[in-house]
This record gives sequence, structure tokens and C-alpha cells, in this order.
Amino acid sequence: MLKAKIVSLGSYVPLNTITNRDLEKKVDTSDEWIIERTGIRERRIALKNQATSDLAYEASMIALKKAGIKAKDLDMIIVASVSGDMPFPSTACLLQNRLDATNAVAFDIAAACSGFIYGLSIAESFIKSEARKRILLVGVETLSRFTDWEDRGTCVLFGDGAGAAIIEPSTDDSGIMSTHIYSDGSLWDFIQVPAGGSRLPCSKETIDKRLHYINMKGNETFKVAVKTLESIALETLEKNNIKASQLALLIPHQANLRIIQATAKRLGLPMEKVMINIEKYGNTSAASIPIAMVEALNMGRIRTGDYILLEAFGAGLTWGSALIKW
Ligand code: ACO
Repeated sequence: MLKAKIVSLGSYVPLNTITNRDLEKKVDTSDEWIIERTGIRERRIALKNQATSDLAYEASMIALKKAGIKAKDLDMIIVASVSGDMPFPSTACLLQNRLDATNAVAFDIAAACSGFIYGLSIAESFIKSEARKRILLVGVETLSRFTDWEDRGTCVLFGDGAGAAIIEPSTDDSGIMSTHIYSDGSLWDFIQVPAGGSRLPCSKETIDKRLHYINMKGNETFKVAVKTLESIALETLEKNNIKASQLALLIPHQANLRIIQATAKRLGLPMEKVMINIEKYGNTSAASIPIAMVEALNMGRIRTGDYILLEAFGAGLTWGSALIKW
């Protein structure tokens, strides 16, 4: 059966770095606490003149160049993000304009940290049904603009970045083996930005109450994440009739080192088979998996024929996984 395949990847992170020591000067926290509880040492923050579509553009240009194609060759652009340039138009349309990708249909999807996997699943469906042939998928966030820099519970966690993939029909047996996506809206209030939408439009009161920033029940989210990530990984392996020991690499969403370690342990995977770069970037939400994939490729940790498992968990709540034969 026809498979979809990632033929190239590109990533971009802003130049501005904020270390844990920098945050010690802003809120009551410490480098030791952040490293021990999250694994994060520093994160990248967009420059004042950079919005989400600018980060997406940089990553996309690299992915296009690596694929050896032009933006006009694209027939679809999917942007996975919950921190778009503005409520509308979509960031995908803004990116389409920057790229001059005049032959593509462009739209956004909002699945928070699971956005890249959701996008992969949507792209896979369009390719397998032969409705589209060349899709640009970008996971991108500028969550620093939605972060309350006075809230130590969240401001230490997030970073900005972008990762882009070009997805085409596979010409051999490599490619996306399966994707699995889920959501549970009953847990919508675990991670949210309460104001700025139609429920609580912007007002002096919402600003005074700091309701335009990320509000997270971290501990509750942590527990659901560990359980859910294990079950979705097992479901993905079972569907493809392979064992965890056959995986060359697990590339998890980088939200918290302890969540990643707990998931690997439950799967019986040694940490050498897990891609981790959270220490450099924090949680870049929808961008974290493609950024980690680019680094894994550059490090030679992904080779032709390898089985790679991707998995993510985020606001919604949403979660998802994908098995790729490289
Ligand atoms: N520095 C120092 N102390 C802190 C900090 C900090 N930055 N943040 C919290 N604390 C304190 C708390 O106030 C609390 O103190 P108390 O016991 O006196 O009340 C104590 O540390 C423990 O707090 P917890 O919230 O229980 O800490 P926990 O070990 O759960 O770690 C964290 C918090 C890092 C947020 C963790 O729960 C986590 O990673 N959760 C999952 C987040 C996630 O996966 N989100 C999904 C993706 S996000 C998206 O989709 C946009």
C-alpha cells in the first residue's frame, strides 16, 4: 500500500538564549530545581521582531532546499501551532505568502504539543488517498509571548522554535508506517490560555488578572502524560507487529526529562535509544519533535531502514504517535 514519507527536514531556533541563571533573577527559582525537575538548562526566545511565521519560514526554507524543490512545487502547507501570529488569518496562509507557495492550500491545526504528530497524520491521509503529492508540515511555536514571566511554575518550561518537514509519496517500503492520534476534551482546563478568545475577550480586567498567559496544572498533566504515552507507544508497536527492542530510536516530545525517562522505562528502552535535547531548548511544543529529528539525523542516530517512534502529549488534552521506517 502507498506510504507517505518525510523526504527532508529543517529546523530553526532563535539566537536569543535564556539560561536558568537568568530566570533566577526574575522569579523565585534555582538552576538546580529546574534541572532536577525538568532537565532544562536553557531555552531560545524569539527576538522582538520575530513572530511565529518568521520562525516557520526559516525552518521551511531549509527543508525545501534539502528536498531540492521550490515552494511553488508544494500543494499543501500545514502549520501546527497554538501561538500563531494573530487569531486570523492562519499562520499557514502568512507562511504561504512569505514562501510564495502559490499552488498550495494552507491551513493551521491547533493540537499544542501534539501538533506535529497530528499534522503528520493529516499529511499521511492526504498522500495515501493520492489527493496531494507534496506537503510542507511545520511545527512551530513562539510560546514566550504567552508565558507569564512572573509565574515560576510555567516560565521555566517553554522555549521558541520551528521544525519543518516535506512529505511525499514513498517510492519504496520506507516511510510512515502508522499514525495514532487521540484527544480528551474533558481535561481541557489542565493547560490553557484563558483569555483572548471569544469566551473571555481582551479587557483591562483580563490583562490585570494575567489571563492571557499559559495556565497549567503541571502535576496532574504529568501523571496523565506518563500513562498515556506508554499506552500509545504500545498500541503503535502492536499495530506494526514490532517489539520495543526493534526500535532504533524513540523521539519523544520534549516536555520534561522525567516524563521521557518514565516512558522509556515502561517500554524497557535503554536511554541510549532515546533522543533528548530538552536541556538546550525547553518545551518548544509543536516544534520539539522535528527539531529533535533534525539533531538526531545530524548526529547519525537515524539510518536507512531504522524504525523510529515519535510520540507527543499536550494541551487539549491531545496525544499521538507515529512509527517511521527511515
Ligand atoms: N522553581 C522552584 N520551585 C518551583 C518551581 C520553580 N520553577 N515551580 C514550581 N515550584 C514548586 C511548587 O510551588 C511546589 O512547591 P510547594 O510544594 O511548596 O507547593 C513544588 O515546587 C512542587 O511543584 P509541582 O508542580 O508539584 O512540581 P512537579 O514536580 O510536578 O514539576 C512541572 C512541575 C515541571 C511543571 C511538571 O509537573 C511537568 O513537567 N508537568 C507536565 C507538563 C507537560 O507535559 N505539559 C504538556 C505540554 S505543554 C503544552 O501542551 C503547551
